[in-house]
Order: sequence, then structure tokens, then C-alpha cells
Amino acid sequence: LSEADSFLEAKALRVEAALRTIVNTWAGAPPLLVEAMAYSLFAGGKRLRPALAFGACELICGDDAPALPAACAIEMIHTYSLIHDDLPAMDDDDLRRGMPTCHVKFGEATAILAGDTLMTMAFDVLADTGRTDVIREVARASGVNGMAGGQILDLEAEENPVDLAGLQAIHRAKTGALIRCSVRTGAMLGGADAAQLDALTRYGEAIGLAFQIADDVLDIVGVEADIGKPVGSDAKSHKVTYPVLVGIDESRRLANEAIDEAIDALAPFDPTRAASLRALATYIIERDK
Ligand code: IPE
Ligand code: IPE
Ligand code: MG
Ligand code: MG
Ligand code: MG
Repeated sequence: LSEADSFLEAKALRVEAALRTIVNTWAGAPPLLVEAMAYSLFAGGKRLRPALAFGACELICGDDAPALPAACAIEMIHTYSLIHDDLPAMDDDDLRRGMPTCHVKFGEATAILAGDTLMTMAFDVLADTGRTDVIREVARASGVNGMAGGQILDLEAEENPVDLAGLQAIHRAKTGALIRCSVRTGAMLGGADAAQLDALTRYGEAIGLAFQIADDVLDIVGVEADIGKPVGSDAKSHKVTYPVLVGIDESRRLANEAIDEAIDALAPFDPTRAASLRALATYIIERDK
């Protein structure tokens, strides 16, 4: 296993155990709702955002434990975004994390509510930090100028195509914001000072953009069994993507450029302690899933 793979594997185990504990506290809730939420939450997934939160926290304070509520909450919000992204009214996809999508399995109404509830309960989890700055950070990354804002721009661009600057803004919002937020909240909970937070913000923004460029490329060159979602979904929905605007080779070059920028942003940190975040940055453009 590469350094990134073993880091992701270890952090996935950690966040999944904590998510199980959270779901178990909902024992008295309507079973169908909890079943649909747990179905999507435990369908697999790379758990990249939790790994980034843990990694940033460890880099700052040498311990990943303070980041646990943020890691769980962000993975819950990310999972909600996937459930809604797959709905017939949005990207209309049938496969996610290698399984039938939430609405295929449970119906649209239940899938909508499962998404809504994952988002809401994420803030219940975040409240455990007692940190209004962290709660606000996640709300803003998910909200009008973050993921949800980016998702509506993505849908509008199906009808009114955007240029590369417009697409970059969509990618930074719909995907970049939550990735940046994972890094920032991990750092904040680790006790980062302003200069450390600035450096890690630059890292988070660069990998967030690169991640969605790589996702666009995988939608074309990926293998369904690896990516766990349909290949060609973007073309089917007439999405504007990096490969549509600049081709696959140039998309890869731009993603690589962003990763160089991310690695450069880690320069102020001890190279040994920054090794996991450096490995995750490279993983983002080299992954096949
Ligand atoms: C997919 O995210 C949706 C995007 C923001 C591109 P991931 O590729 O992180 O999906 P999982 O969590 O591993 O399933
Ligand atoms: C979605 O981008 C990003 C989200 C906020 C969920 P995509 O629509 O490209 O994500 P996939 O390819 O379906 O995972
Ligand atoms: Mg989409
Ligand atoms: Mg989609
Ligand atoms: Mg995609």
C-alpha cells in the first residue's frame, strides 16, 4: 500500500467506527429514515474528507482526536450531497459507491429526507465541539456560497454553458468548499495559528479544485467497478467539465499544477509531519477511483 492508501484506510476505520456510534444514538427514530441514512453512509466511500481533517489536525497538534466531530459531520454532509446529487431531478444516476443509489433503493421521498436529515444531524455532531467558529465554517462551506451554491451553478450550466473561469468557480464551490473546510476545521480544532491556517487553506483550495478536475476525467476514463458510479454521467447530462472545455491532457496538466501548488503550500511545515497531507495531495490526481 502507498502511504496515502494506508493513511486513508486507517482514518476510514476511525471515522466509520465513530459514525456507527452516532447512528446508534438514533435508535428511537423512524427506522426507515435511519435505514436509508445508514445505507448511504456505510456504502463505502474513500473517506477523503475525514482523512484530510484528521491529517491537518495531526500536523498541527500531533493528535487526530480533536478533529473527530468535524470528520464525522463533514462525511455526513458529503454523503447527503451525494444522495441529492444522484436524484432524478439532479444528475439522475443509479449507482453510487458501488451500490444502487439511495432513491433507487428507498424511493425519492425517503432519499430526499435521508439527505436532509444527514445534513441536519451533522450540525448536532458539530455542536459537540462547542466551537461556533467550526460550526460556521461547515455551514458556509455547505451553503449558499459553498457546496449547495455550486450545485445550482452546475445545474444551470447544463442549459447555459460557462467558460473555464466560470467552471473553475463552480468546481471550487460544489466540491472545493467542503474539501477546504475539512482541512481548515481539522487545523482549527488542532489549535492552528493564523499563519498555519492560511497555509493549510491554500493547500485545501488547491486540492479541492484538483479533486473535481480528476473526478471529471474519471467520468470519462474511469472504470465503473472502480469508481463505483456510472461512467459517462457528465456527457449524459450535458455537463460542462474540464475535459469538455480543454481536453483530457490539459485537464490532467491543470490538476497537476494545482497539486504542485498544494505541496508548495505545505513548505512552512516540518516535512516529516506534513508527509500524510503531501501523500493525499498526490493521491488525488493519481487515484483511479
Ligand atoms: C464524489 O466525491 C463527489 C464529488 C465531490 C466529486 P468522492 O469521490 O469523495 O466520493 P466518495 O465519498 O469516495 O464516495
Ligand atoms: C458533485 O459533482 C459534487 C457534489 C457536491 C456532490 P459530480 O456530480 O461530478 O459528482 P459525482 O461524479 O456524481 O460523484
Ligand atoms: Mg453533480
Ligand atoms: Mg453527479
Ligand atoms: Mg463527477
